[in-house]
Amino acid sequence: MKTLALYPGSFDPITFGHLDILQRATELFDKVIVTIAINSRKETVFTGDEREALLKKCLKDKDWAKKVDIEQFSGLLVDFAKQKNAKTLVRGVRQISDFEYEFRMALTNRRLAPNVDTVFLMPNEHLTFISASLVKEVATWGGDLSSFVPEHVATALKEKMKRPEDSQ
Ligand code: PNS
Repeated sequence: MKTLALYPGSFDPITFGHLDILQRATELFDKVIVTIAINSRKETVFTGDEREALLKKCLKDKDWAKKVDIEQFSGLLVDFAKQKNAKTLVRGVRQISDFEYEFRMALTNRRLAPNVDTVFLMPNEHLTFISASLVKEVATWGGDLSSFVPEHVATALKEKMKRPEDSQ
């Protein structure tokens, strides 16, 4: 029987940390569906389609990406999991401070869908401090993004973050 996991998140935008977790997930499961949340209450910089396109480009030419599908979802994650017949959710945990939120989310999801469990993976330690929100903060002030996100993501982010005064 083939194993399937969802890797859900906002991916606003995808970072090297996300890609590391995704690659690790492909080593554990036969198929991983990156599940891009489009209706979370969080305001996003990129639309669902933009986030999907950025992610797709990251996966181009990567051998392990053959095991990856990308889908956007809205609504409850566990409903999407049921729809896909997925029993495992993958989440990255970078440090202990992530854990409390992740633990609550995993248990909430399990209360809603008792047969859906969450597996936590840790990224390579040199990526543990990277977060999409810090990447956006660095981008806002024109900092170097090369160690946080792939080049095309940095370019897209810089374009989005352009402030009106930058073009004057
Ligand atoms: O990358 P993020 O923003 O930490 O991802 C959070 C996400 C999108 C996985 C989470 O907010 C989610 O699953 N949202 C969908 C709504 C839902 O199912 N909420 C119940 C989980 S507590």
